[in-house]
Amino acid sequence: MKALVYHGPGLRAWETVPDPTIVEPTDAVVQIDSSTICGTDLHILKGDVPEVKPGTVLGHEAVGTVVQIGSGVATLKEGDRVLVSCITSCGRCRFCREGHYGLCTGGGGWIFGHLIDGLQAEFARVPFADTSVHKVPESLTDEQVLFLADILPTAYEVGILNGRVGPGDTVAIVGAGPIGLAAIMTAKLFTPGRIIAIDIDPGRLAKAREFGADATIDNGREDPVAAAKELTGGLGVDVAIEAVGVPETFELCTDLIRPGGRVANVGVHGHSATLHLEKLWIQDVTITTGLVDTVTTPTLMQLIEQGKLDPTPFATHRFALADTMAAYDTFGAAAESNALKVVLEAERLAIEPPHREELVGAGV
Ligand SMILES: NC(=O)c1ccc[n+]([C@@H]2O[C@H](COP(=O)([O-])OP(=O)(O)OC[C@H]3O[C@@H](n4cnc5c(N)ncnc54)[C@H](O)[C@@H]3O)[C@@H](O)[C@H]2O)c1
Ligand SMILES: [Zn+2]
Ligand SMILES: [Zn+2]
Repeated sequence: MKALVYHGPGLRAWETVPDPTIVEPTDAVVQIDSSTICGTDLHILKGDVPEVKPGTVLGHEAVGTVVQIGSGVATLKEGDRVLVSCITSCGRCRFCREGHYGLCTGGGGWIFGHLIDGLQAEFARVPFADTSVHKVPESLTDEQVLFLADILPTAYEVGILNGRVGPGDTVAIVGAGPIGLAAIMTAKLFTPGRIIAIDIDPGRLAKAREFGADATIDNGREDPVAAAKELTGGLGVDVAIEAVGVPETFELCTDLIRPGGRVANVGVHGHSATLHLEKLWIQDVTITTGLVDTVTTPTLMQLIEQGKLDPTPFATHRFALADTMAAYDTFGAAAESNALKVVLEAERLAIEPPHREELVGAGV
């Protein structure tokens, strides 16, 4: 098969690799129908994630079709259309039993395109298939569910739920990339009073308004703390969500909140940030961090099915899966291309899922 292979910092190639096979009885092999690229893949290509070994297939977000199952897989069959998300779950360890799949100690967690071959490929081996994939309702298209593989549950769980966004809250979202925009989208599920998006890129701030931000602050041009205080009667915001991943924006979030406020950090940090406890200790603040668990994916999928959530505006560019190299160029140059998410679409190669009428006819 063909796949996008990481060959060390700055090096990637779309090339022929061995077809994945069932290794453990709990595995499934999935044919990839749609995949996408994440900012984290760009971090890997910069060499920021040294656990990723050269030779690894990248990608951790896809919709596909089950083409083979191991003898221990009970709830899936060939032809099932599934969302394969960034987090897998062994289903057995303490953390999986608590719904903290991101912390799985049984071999799951974030492994695709990280510790094992990933999903920017024609086929992928999916470990712990029963407890890791999500069946996709027939009524939903790939593009409606693809962004449930990472950005939506990440923004919702690590941003909105950790930040305890509630009705009437003023929420500042620092960083209006795909994660920050997904935070705007899912914050709205709780009817906040006001969403303030903060970014240094006017193009991203325009997107933030399209996604429903009530106010935007360009922190490259104006003092974001003064601007946020002006919008909140001098008090500061109830919740600040960090969706960039650099020290300045984390520190900014701790300056933006009111006494008793919450900072929910979503960004992946490569450098230490300063925690100003000398100012914060007296203010009753809460600061949370986290890797996504994807425990809310079924709920978010249901909201999409019910028409309450529409993630399709994230898809700004489409490429054939075979053109993944060009898709990386476009995604990597987001400032010029205005890309949010690029959709990689496979041409259907071998097997088609059985049609419903055939299943009915066969008495299934
Ligand atoms: N915790 C998790 O589980 C998890 C999962 C996925 C991604 N992430 C992380 O979330 C973060 C956001 O992801 P993304 O894909 O949206 O990234 P992105 O790079 O596409 O977007 C970041 C945005 O921040 C803006 N920005 C940069 N510097 C800024 C500054 N000083 N002030 C204000 N805005 C600034 C950029 O203009 C851009 O719009 C990344 O750090 C990513 O690695 C975390
Ligand atoms: Zn990702
Ligand atoms: Zn586990």
